[in-house]
Amino acid sequence: MLRYWTAGESHGKGILAIVDGFPCGIAVDSDVIDRELQRRQGGYGRGGRQRIEQDRVEILSGTWRGLSLGSPIALWVKNHDYKIEKMEDLDRPRPGHGDLSGSIKYLTSVRAILERASARETVGRVAAGALARQLLTAVGIEVFGYVVSLGPIDLPPREGSLAELRTIRDRSALYCLHPEKDAEVMELIDACRKQGDTLGGIVEVRVENPPFGLGTHAQWDHKLDGRLAQAVMAVQAIKGVEIGLGFQAARTFGSETHDAITYDPARANERCLGFVRPTNRAGGLEAGMTNAQPIIIRAAMKPISTLAKPLESVHLPSKQPRAAAYERSDVCAVPAASVIVENVVAFEIAAALVEKFGQDNIEEIRRRIELFEEMARSR
Ligand SMILES: Cc1cc2nc3c(=O)[nH]c(=O)nc-3n(C[C@H](O)[C@H](O)[C@H](O)COP(=O)(O)O)c2cc1C
Repeated sequence: MLRYWTAGESHGKGILAIVDGFPCGIAVDSDVIDRELQRRQGGYGRGGRQRIEQDRVEILSGTWRGLSLGSPIALWVKNHDYKIEKMEDLDRPRPGHGDLSGSIKYLTSVRAILERASARETVGRVAAGALARQLLTAVGIEVFGYVVSLGPIDLPPREGSLAELRTIRDRSALYCLHPEKDAEVMELIDACRKQGDTLGGIVEVRVENPPFGLGTHAQWDHKLDGRLAQAVMAVQAIKGVEIGLGFQAARTFGSETHDAITYDPARANERCLGFVRPTNRAGGLEAGMTNAQPIIIRAAMKPISTLAKPLESVHLPSKQPRAAAYERSDVCAVPAASVIVENVVAFEIAAALVEKFGQDNIEEIRRRIELFEEMARSR
């Protein structure tokens, strides 16, 4: 079983991720993790915190001479803004945060809750996911995320090879596939900042080249669609998850929703084993299993909860009405969310891969994929 945990508070010493069950023999490159961490810090609309942090991973265990050992890998990212002991409590809970329910549930201060609820924790998820994608790369699977809408502005997906799309996305300050629209969106974010307001949006992730059969139909908590939805929904501020057509499928006829199945012997040696689907409305998953089509998953992010022009709240000691507290905050973090969702999806795909093909050694995994595909072809 490939799994991970994170630990750490927003203004504590740092964030730790422990990845357990990562196979032996994979070249682990900390630059790949750092690149994702830096992308997580970027995107237009972030607040002052990102100017303080310079996220870099330190790999504390689980590798030797650049290769994974098969033992737990501890990933450490230091917080430069370490000041938790000096921080004041908040006495006016912010609507949209865990401030009120967390401080009541644990019978504690708001600070004790917000420090862990904060999206700073996603540094650990991105680090774990960026490690997992190195396993995926070793078997030819790629994961790619981008923003498809920001507030009311649509930034729809485009056709093209992954290499082309990556170049386009990396030109955009919003991590979208329409850099020509950056100026319009940035203007909207600036106007929002001026008004003391915030924005959300939608991100999409594509997983290219998955083999048949990751996940299973057989038990509810092993279905890959469910596991992806849980991982993505558990990202801070994500309030909706769709796979393939998603909610749109409820509005279309069956004939417009499902993907016909055809067979092309010329493609029998590809991951699709020759089973060509002219469309991919299912988003690569049928009955909780991959069908060798690209996996397409979207996530809706709500607007940031901390408002410079705050909503009404309650002063907790006196129970009198007051404006909610304000702390340094992002106006829009949808680009960063696309990086987080990309990496949590990568982790779940890697976990499903080792479940199907074993997890001891990468060479063994590669051979088992080949053997499985050979057996499937010769049925
Ligand atoms: C990348 C990212 C950055 C975020 N930055 C902030 C922020 O600066 N201020 C804020 O109030 N909320 C921010 N959030 C959202 C909160 O962490 C989140 O809304 C809160 O913890 C409550 O959790 P929930 O929205 O999942 O219910 C951010 C979320 C993400 C994914």
